Amino acid sequence: MADVVEIAAMRRALELATRGPRSRNPQVGCVLLSPSGEVLAEGWHRGAGTAHAEVDALSKLPEGGARGATAVVSLEPCNHVGRTGPCAVALIEAGVSRVVFALADPGEHSSGGAERLRSAGVDVEGGVLEAEAREFLAPWLAARALGRPHVTVKWAQSLDGRAAAADGTSQWITGPEARADVHRRRAEADAIVVGTGTVLADDPALTARDGDDLFPRQPVPVVLGSAPVPAGARVRAHPRALLAYPTRELGAVLDDLFDRGLQRVFVEGGPTLASAFVSAGFADRILTYIAPTLIGGPRTALTDVGVPTIADQHRLSVDALQRLGSDLLVVARPLPESESH
Ligand SMILES: NC(=O)c1ccc[n+]([C@@H]2O[C@H](COP(=O)([O-])OP(=O)(O)OC[C@H]3O[C@@H](n4cnc5c(N)ncnc54)[C@H](OP(=O)(O)O)[C@@H]3O)[C@@H](O)[C@H]2O)c1
Repeated sequence: MADVVEIAAMRRALELATRGPRSRNPQVGCVLLSPSGEVLAEGWHRGAGTAHAEVDALSKLPEGGARGATAVVSLEPCNHVGRTGPCAVALIEAGVSRVVFALADPGEHSSGGAERLRSAGVDVEGGVLEAEAREFLAPWLAARALGRPHVTVKWAQSLDGRAAAADGTSQWITGPEARADVHRRRAEADAIVVGTGTVLADDPALTARDGDDLFPRQPVPVVLGSAPVPAGARVRAHPRALLAYPTRELGAVLDDLFDRGLQRVFVEGGPTLASAFVSAGFADRILTYIAPTLIGGPRTALTDVGVPTIADQHRLSVDALQRLGSDLLVVARPLPESESH
């Protein structure tokens, strides 16, 4: 069982992990403890291609300095020979006698570090402060499992499924409570994505606001499409630098966002772009804000989502229904292929 000193060291390792950047690689921290429980060295991972947290910590000690030590790491030491070599082997070679970690490595190629350490006679304990580590790494874990950022597609619609009036005006369909909910969710996202159509029609600021104030955490604004973003567009005054991709290749864009460490993507439309994300199977979560109003006309919330016949419909399951003032929020996600027909 991990003792209080090891648990405190794990808290520190989780703190150290936050110093590393978000990237395709997880943020990991490591503390090396002497047999009597003193901190010998600390380390953290600084992103793809650099030393992993364990190796970073070991590098701060002289040769033989980690003999008999305990390594406290926020993620199971990896077992793969990537650009940096397996951490499990580095720990074995350094003579570490015990390894305490929080979360098992979910990587197909990198897991198995605990087994490798055990078979070399190292005492290994996993699951220490696991819930904290899992919460901290949740965006990375989700993106890791998908192989791309996790995508939420959001739209606001009238009860009859319209996203705008016939002339293109859509501000505001929903009430202040629903809009405040959107702003809170924007502040939790890493990137907020719209198509050029929305930029040209609405000139949105794409900031996350608490009333008139900006939330301290702002998503990176992203605009997709070949039409240029006008020089005076409000999104250019966003506190984070605008990423404009003059392309319709959603997969390539998601790949690039993942490389930039943007793991939670919030797509805010309009209907053309939202439909493209749904068609491509990239909408992991759908948020629909439904206002008790009727608009009619041609501007539907979604356009073509690749459903020529009813057998091809995108079946969803509802995770939550929430009343926001006079509006309703439906949170849904796609049913797995096997359950959708
Ligand atoms: N109710 C709501 O929640 C809501 C939200 C946002 C907007 N709106 C309303 O929606 C209207 C604008 O909607 P919209 O559909 O014209 O604009 P949009 O979806 O914001 O933008 C469409 C543009 O996105 C670009 N794009 C990038 N990747 C694409 C892909 N894979 N497939 C297709 N297009 C891609 C294309 O730009 P290029 O042609 O430049 O290449 C396309 O013309 C406005 O009336 C706005 O007020 C409503």
